Amino acid sequence: ELPAEVTIWEVGARDGLQNEQSVVPLEVKLEFLGRLADAGLTVLEATSFVHPKWVPQLADAEALLAKLDRRDGARYPVLVPNERGLDRALAAGVGEIAVFGSATQTFAERNLNSGLTEQFALFEPVVGRARAEGLPVRAYLSMCFGDPWEGPVPAAQVVDAGRRLLDLGCFQLSLGDTIGVATAGQVERLIAAFADAGVPASALAVHFHDTYGQALANTLTALRCGVSTVDSSAGGLGGCPYAESATGNLATEDLVWALDGLGVRTGVDLDALVATSAWMAGCLGRPSPSRVVRALAG
Ligand code: HMG
Ligand code: MG
Repeated sequence: ELPAEVTIWEVGARDGLQNEQSVVPLEVKLEFLGRLADAGLTVLEATSFVHPKWVPQLADAEALLAKLDRRDGARYPVLVPNERGLDRALAAGVGEIAVFGSATQTFAERNLNSGLTEQFALFEPVVGRARAEGLPVRAYLSMCFGDPWEGPVPAAQVVDAGRRLLDLGCFQLSLGDTIGVATAGQVERLIAAFADAGVPASALAVHFHDTYGQALANTLTALRCGVSTVDSSAGGLGGCPYAESATGNLATEDLVWALDGLGVRTGVDLDALVATSAWMAGCLGRPSPSRVVRALAG
Protein backbone atom coordinates (compact mmCIF):
# COMPACT_ATOMS: atom_id res chain seq x y z
CA GLU A 1 0.00 0.00 0.00
CA LEU A 2 2.92 2.34 0.63
CA PRO A 3 4.95 3.45 -2.40
CA ALA A 4 8.30 1.67 -2.88
CA GLU A 5 10.00 5.01 -3.26
CA VAL A 6 9.25 8.57 -2.13
CA THR A 7 10.53 11.78 -3.71
CA ILE A 8 11.45 14.26 -1.02
CA TRP A 9 10.96 17.88 -2.05
CA GLU A 10 13.40 19.58 0.29
CA VAL A 11 12.19 23.09 1.17
CA GLY A 12 14.68 23.93 3.94
CA ALA A 13 16.56 26.60 2.02
CA ARG A 14 13.29 28.35 1.05
CA ASP A 15 10.44 27.64 3.48
CA GLY A 16 12.98 26.88 6.20
CA LEU A 17 14.87 30.14 5.94
CA GLN A 18 12.25 32.62 4.69
CA ASN A 19 11.02 33.30 8.21
CA GLU A 20 14.37 33.54 10.03
CA GLN A 21 14.74 36.79 11.95
CA SER A 22 18.44 37.28 11.33
CA VAL A 23 19.55 37.22 7.71
CA VAL A 24 21.42 34.02 7.00
CA PRO A 25 24.65 34.80 5.11
CA LEU A 26 24.78 33.74 1.47
CA GLU A 27 27.79 31.49 2.11
CA VAL A 28 25.83 29.59 4.77
CA LYS A 29 22.89 29.10 2.41
CA LEU A 30 25.21 27.79 -0.31
CA GLU A 31 26.91 25.39 2.07
CA PHE A 32 23.49 24.25 3.33
CA LEU A 33 22.31 23.44 -0.21
CA GLY A 34 25.59 21.70 -1.01
CA ARG A 35 25.42 19.53 2.10
CA LEU A 36 21.78 18.66 1.47
CA ALA A 37 22.69 17.47 -2.03
CA ASP A 38 25.63 15.50 -0.58
CA ALA A 39 23.16 13.81 1.78
CA GLY A 40 21.29 12.50 -1.26
CA LEU A 41 18.44 14.96 -1.68
CA THR A 42 17.68 15.55 -5.35
CA VAL A 43 14.94 18.19 -5.30
CA LEU A 44 16.21 21.25 -3.48
CA GLU A 45 13.96 24.30 -3.46
CA ALA A 46 16.61 26.99 -3.52
CA THR A 47 14.93 30.35 -2.93
CA SER A 48 12.06 32.66 -4.00
CA PHE A 49 11.90 35.46 -6.54
CA VAL A 50 9.40 37.43 -4.48
CA HIS A 51 9.48 41.07 -3.51
CA PRO A 52 12.61 41.63 -1.38
CA LYS A 53 10.68 43.92 0.96
CA TRP A 54 8.13 41.19 1.61
CA VAL A 55 10.72 38.50 2.28
CA PRO A 56 14.07 40.18 3.02
CA GLN A 57 15.61 36.87 3.98
CA LEU A 58 15.52 35.73 0.33
CA ALA A 59 16.51 39.08 -1.20
CA ASP A 60 19.78 37.48 -2.30
CA ALA A 61 18.05 35.14 -4.80
CA GLU A 62 20.08 36.34 -7.81
CA ALA A 63 23.38 36.09 -5.95
CA LEU A 64 22.48 32.64 -4.66
CA LEU A 65 21.64 31.30 -8.13
CA ALA A 66 24.81 32.84 -9.55
CA LYS A 67 27.00 31.05 -7.01
CA LEU A 68 25.01 27.82 -6.67
CA ASP A 69 27.03 24.67 -7.30
CA ARG A 70 24.37 22.63 -9.14
CA ARG A 71 24.94 18.93 -8.61
CA ASP A 72 24.37 16.37 -11.37
CA GLY A 73 20.96 14.82 -11.06
CA ALA A 74 19.64 17.49 -8.68
CA ARG A 75 16.85 19.97 -9.38
CA TYR A 76 16.72 23.46 -7.90
CA PRO A 77 13.17 24.85 -8.25
CA VAL A 78 12.39 28.37 -7.03
CA LEU A 79 9.17 30.14 -6.02
CA VAL A 80 7.77 32.72 -8.43
CA PRO A 81 4.60 34.73 -7.66
CA ASN A 82 4.22 36.90 -10.77
CA GLU A 83 5.73 37.89 -14.10
CA ARG A 84 8.27 40.19 -12.48
CA GLY A 85 9.46 37.20 -10.46
CA LEU A 86 9.56 35.07 -13.60
CA ASP A 87 11.68 37.65 -15.42
CA ARG A 88 14.15 37.58 -12.54
CA ALA A 89 14.15 33.77 -12.36
CA LEU A 90 14.71 33.38 -16.10
CA ALA A 91 17.54 35.93 -16.03
CA ALA A 92 19.10 33.91 -13.20
CA GLY A 93 18.96 30.75 -15.31
CA VAL A 94 16.56 28.67 -13.24
CA GLY A 95 15.32 25.40 -14.73
CA GLU A 96 12.10 24.89 -12.80
CA ILE A 97 9.65 27.06 -10.88
CA ALA A 98 6.71 26.84 -8.52
CA VAL A 99 3.77 29.22 -8.25
CA PHE A 100 1.96 29.45 -4.94
CA GLY A 101 -1.76 29.97 -4.63
CA SER A 102 -4.14 30.14 -1.70
CA ALA A 103 -7.30 28.17 -0.99
CA THR A 104 -8.68 31.14 0.97
CA GLN A 105 -9.41 34.79 0.26
CA THR A 106 -7.70 36.18 3.36
CA PHE A 107 -4.40 34.42 2.75
CA ALA A 108 -4.44 35.34 -0.96
CA GLU A 109 -4.70 38.95 0.18
CA ARG A 110 -2.04 38.71 2.84
CA ASN A 111 0.47 36.55 0.98
CA LEU A 112 0.01 37.76 -2.59
CA ASN A 113 -1.80 41.08 -2.28
CA SER A 114 -4.41 39.44 -4.53
CA GLY A 115 -7.68 37.54 -4.07
CA LEU A 116 -8.98 33.97 -4.19
CA THR A 117 -10.34 34.54 -7.71
CA GLU A 118 -7.84 37.16 -8.86
CA GLN A 119 -4.74 35.07 -8.11
CA PHE A 120 -5.24 32.85 -11.17
CA ALA A 121 -4.87 35.85 -13.47
CA LEU A 122 -1.54 36.53 -11.74
CA PHE A 123 -0.33 32.98 -12.37
CA GLU A 124 -1.68 32.36 -15.86
CA PRO A 125 0.99 34.32 -17.78
CA VAL A 126 3.66 33.03 -15.40
CA VAL A 127 2.84 29.40 -16.07
CA GLY A 128 2.27 30.00 -19.79
CA ARG A 129 5.56 31.80 -20.34
CA ALA A 130 7.55 29.42 -18.14
CA ARG A 131 6.25 26.40 -20.02
CA ALA A 132 6.94 28.07 -23.36
CA GLU A 133 10.54 28.36 -22.12
CA GLY A 134 10.53 24.64 -21.32
CA LEU A 135 10.36 25.03 -17.53
CA PRO A 136 8.23 22.60 -15.53
CA VAL A 137 5.92 24.43 -13.12
CA ARG A 138 4.72 23.11 -9.81
CA ALA A 139 1.79 24.67 -7.95
CA TYR A 140 1.46 25.07 -4.23
CA LEU A 141 -1.89 25.58 -2.60
CA SER A 142 -1.86 27.03 0.92
CA MET A 143 -4.44 26.77 3.70
CA CYS A 144 -5.86 23.48 2.42
CA PHE A 145 -6.80 22.26 5.89
CA GLY A 146 -7.55 25.39 7.86
CA ASP A 147 -6.90 29.11 7.82
CA PRO A 148 -5.97 31.21 10.88
CA TRP A 149 -8.47 33.94 9.92
CA GLU A 150 -11.23 31.96 8.23
CA GLY A 151 -11.14 28.72 10.22
CA PRO A 152 -12.03 25.44 8.51
CA VAL A 153 -11.77 25.54 4.70
CA PRO A 154 -14.43 23.60 2.74
CA ALA A 155 -12.92 20.74 0.71
CA ALA A 156 -14.88 21.83 -2.39
CA GLN A 157 -13.21 25.25 -2.22
CA VAL A 158 -9.76 23.63 -1.95
CA VAL A 159 -10.44 21.24 -4.83
CA ASP A 160 -11.73 24.05 -7.03
CA ALA A 161 -8.65 26.22 -6.45
CA GLY A 162 -6.31 23.24 -6.87
CA ARG A 163 -7.90 22.18 -10.14
CA ARG A 164 -7.63 25.69 -11.51
CA LEU A 165 -3.90 25.70 -10.76
CA LEU A 166 -3.40 22.31 -12.44
CA ASP A 167 -5.51 23.44 -15.41
CA LEU A 168 -3.06 26.31 -15.98
CA GLY A 169 -0.50 23.64 -16.87
CA CYS A 170 1.23 22.84 -13.59
CA PHE A 171 2.56 19.28 -13.37
CA GLN A 172 1.93 18.82 -9.66
CA LEU A 173 -0.15 20.32 -6.87
CA SER A 174 1.35 20.48 -3.40
CA LEU A 175 -1.36 20.59 -0.73
CA GLY A 176 -0.18 22.96 1.98
CA ASP A 177 -1.16 22.75 5.62
CA THR A 178 0.39 26.15 6.18
CA ILE A 179 -0.44 26.35 9.89
CA GLY A 180 -0.15 22.66 10.73
CA VAL A 181 -3.71 22.00 11.89
CA ALA A 182 -4.59 19.02 9.68
CA THR A 183 -5.39 15.60 11.06
CA ALA A 184 -5.17 12.26 9.28
CA GLY A 185 -8.86 11.77 8.53
CA GLN A 186 -9.02 15.17 6.92
CA VAL A 187 -6.04 14.29 4.73
CA GLU A 188 -7.75 11.11 3.54
CA ARG A 189 -10.98 12.98 2.78
CA LEU A 190 -9.28 15.77 0.85
CA ILE A 191 -7.28 13.37 -1.32
CA ALA A 192 -10.51 11.45 -2.01
CA ALA A 193 -12.28 14.70 -2.92
CA PHE A 194 -9.55 15.46 -5.46
CA ALA A 195 -9.88 11.94 -6.90
CA ASP A 196 -13.65 12.46 -7.25
CA ALA A 197 -12.90 15.64 -9.17
CA GLY A 198 -10.58 13.79 -11.55
CA VAL A 199 -7.25 14.66 -9.91
CA PRO A 200 -5.35 11.44 -9.09
CA ALA A 201 -3.12 11.18 -6.02
CA SER A 202 -0.17 10.82 -8.42
CA ALA A 203 -0.64 14.52 -9.35
CA LEU A 204 -0.51 15.57 -5.69
CA ALA A 205 2.24 16.24 -3.20
CA VAL A 206 1.81 17.05 0.48
CA HIS A 207 3.30 19.90 2.50
CA PHE A 208 2.71 19.68 6.22
CA HIS A 209 3.84 22.06 8.90
CA ASP A 210 4.26 20.48 12.31
CA THR A 211 2.58 22.99 14.63
CA TYR A 212 0.38 20.33 16.28
CA GLY A 213 2.85 17.45 15.89
CA GLN A 214 0.72 15.80 13.19
CA ALA A 215 2.93 16.31 10.15
CA LEU A 216 4.41 12.81 10.04
CA ALA A 217 1.10 11.06 10.72
CA ASN A 218 -0.55 13.15 8.02
CA THR A 219 2.25 12.39 5.57
CA LEU A 220 2.07 8.63 6.12
CA THR A 221 -1.69 8.82 5.61
CA ALA A 222 -1.17 10.62 2.30
CA LEU A 223 1.38 8.01 1.21
CA ARG A 224 -1.14 5.25 1.90
CA CYS A 225 -3.61 7.17 -0.29
CA GLY A 226 -1.24 7.10 -3.27
CA VAL A 227 0.82 10.27 -2.90
CA SER A 228 4.57 9.76 -3.44
CA THR A 229 6.08 13.26 -3.31
CA VAL A 230 6.54 14.79 0.14
CA ASP A 231 7.73 18.28 1.07
CA SER A 232 9.88 18.56 4.17
CA SER A 233 12.59 20.78 5.55
CA ALA A 234 15.91 19.69 6.97
CA GLY A 235 15.93 20.06 10.73
CA GLY A 236 12.25 21.10 10.70
CA LEU A 237 13.12 24.72 9.95
CA GLY A 238 10.49 27.08 8.74
CA GLY A 239 7.20 28.89 8.86
CA CYS A 240 5.38 31.39 6.74
CA PRO A 241 5.88 35.08 7.55
CA TYR A 242 2.34 35.86 6.33
CA ALA A 243 0.48 33.23 8.35
CA GLU A 244 -0.10 33.55 12.07
CA SER A 245 0.88 30.47 14.06
CA ALA A 246 2.82 28.75 11.29
CA THR A 247 5.80 26.81 12.63
CA GLY A 248 8.36 24.66 10.87
CA ASN A 249 7.74 22.05 8.21
CA LEU A 250 7.81 18.33 8.74
CA ALA A 251 11.50 17.66 9.44
CA THR A 252 13.19 15.75 6.64
CA GLU A 253 15.00 13.66 9.26
CA ASP A 254 11.72 12.61 10.91
CA LEU A 255 10.40 11.59 7.49
CA VAL A 256 13.52 9.65 6.52
CA TRP A 257 13.67 7.88 9.89
CA ALA A 258 10.08 6.69 9.43
CA LEU A 259 10.50 5.69 5.78
CA ASP A 260 13.79 3.88 6.43
CA GLY A 261 11.96 1.83 9.05
CA LEU A 262 9.20 1.04 6.58
CA GLY A 263 11.65 0.06 3.83
CA VAL A 264 10.53 2.91 1.58
CA ARG A 265 13.43 4.26 -0.48
CA THR A 266 14.34 7.96 -0.32
CA GLY A 267 17.98 7.93 -1.39
CA VAL A 268 18.87 10.03 1.65
CA ASP A 269 21.78 9.32 3.98
CA LEU A 270 20.23 10.07 7.39
CA ASP A 271 23.55 10.53 9.22
CA ALA A 272 24.79 13.08 6.68
CA LEU A 273 21.47 14.89 6.88
CA VAL A 274 21.44 15.00 10.69
CA ALA A 275 25.00 16.35 10.68
CA THR A 276 23.90 19.07 8.26
CA SER A 277 20.96 20.12 10.42
CA ALA A 278 23.08 20.07 13.57
CA TRP A 279 25.57 22.36 11.81
CA MET A 280 22.72 24.62 10.62
CA ALA A 281 21.26 24.78 14.14
CA GLY A 282 24.68 26.01 15.27
CA CYS A 283 24.64 28.70 12.57
CA LEU A 284 21.15 29.81 13.62
CA GLY A 285 22.01 29.68 17.31
CA ARG A 286 19.19 27.43 18.48
CA PRO A 287 18.49 23.71 18.62
CA SER A 288 16.69 21.97 15.79
CA PRO A 289 12.99 21.32 16.51
CA SER A 290 13.37 17.87 14.91
CA ARG A 291 13.14 15.04 17.44
CA VAL A 292 15.24 12.80 15.21
CA VAL A 293 17.99 15.41 14.89
CA ARG A 294 18.04 15.84 18.67
CA ALA A 295 18.10 12.08 19.23
CA LEU A 296 20.87 11.36 16.73
CA ALA A 297 23.10 14.44 16.82
CA GLY A 298 25.77 13.43 19.32
P1 HMG B 1 2.61 43.83 -4.80
O1 HMG B 1 3.09 44.88 -3.89
O2 HMG B 1 1.14 43.67 -5.02
O3 HMG B 1 3.36 43.95 -6.21
O4 HMG B 1 3.21 42.45 -4.25
P2 HMG B 1 3.00 44.83 -7.46
O5 HMG B 1 2.82 43.92 -8.62
O6 HMG B 1 1.91 45.81 -7.14
O7 HMG B 1 4.35 45.65 -7.69
C1 HMG B 1 4.81 46.62 -6.73
C2 HMG B 1 6.31 46.81 -6.88
O8 HMG B 1 6.97 45.58 -6.52
C3 HMG B 1 6.75 47.11 -8.31
O9 HMG B 1 7.90 47.94 -8.21
C4 HMG B 1 7.18 45.77 -8.83
O10 HMG B 1 8.15 45.84 -9.86
C5 HMG B 1 7.78 45.13 -7.60
P3 HMG B 1 7.81 49.50 -8.48
O11 HMG B 1 7.29 49.60 -9.88
O12 HMG B 1 6.84 50.02 -7.46
O13 HMG B 1 9.20 49.95 -8.27
N1 HMG B 1 7.69 43.68 -7.66
C6 HMG B 1 8.71 42.82 -7.53
N2 HMG B 1 10.01 43.01 -7.28
C7 HMG B 1 10.78 41.91 -7.21
N3 HMG B 1 10.32 40.66 -7.36
C8 HMG B 1 9.03 40.43 -7.61
C9 HMG B 1 8.16 41.55 -7.69
N4 HMG B 1 6.85 41.66 -7.93
C10 HMG B 1 6.57 42.97 -7.90
N5 HMG B 1 8.57 39.18 -7.77
C11 HMG B 1 3.89 40.19 -4.58
C12 HMG B 1 2.85 41.24 -4.87
C13 HMG B 1 3.35 38.86 -5.05
C14 HMG B 1 5.17 40.55 -5.31
C15 HMG B 1 4.18 40.17 -3.07
O14 HMG B 1 2.96 39.97 -2.42
C16 HMG B 1 5.14 39.08 -2.65
O15 HMG B 1 6.34 39.15 -2.95
N6 HMG B 1 4.63 38.03 -1.95
C17 HMG B 1 5.44 36.90 -1.59
C18 HMG B 1 5.07 36.42 -0.22
C19 HMG B 1 5.88 35.16 0.11
O16 HMG B 1 6.96 34.95 -0.42
N7 HMG B 1 5.34 34.33 1.01
C20 HMG B 1 5.98 33.13 1.42
C21 HMG B 1 5.93 32.03 0.39
S1 HMG B 1 4.38 31.17 0.37
C22 HMG B 1 4.53 29.98 1.61
O17 HMG B 1 5.44 30.02 2.39
C23 HMG B 1 3.53 28.85 1.67
C24 HMG B 1 4.10 27.52 1.14
O18 HMG B 1 5.22 27.10 1.89
C25 HMG B 1 3.02 26.41 1.22
C26 HMG B 1 2.33 26.35 2.58
O19 HMG B 1 3.00 26.17 3.62
O20 HMG B 1 1.11 26.49 2.57
C27 HMG B 1 4.52 27.64 -0.33
MG1 MG C 1 5.14 26.10 3.80
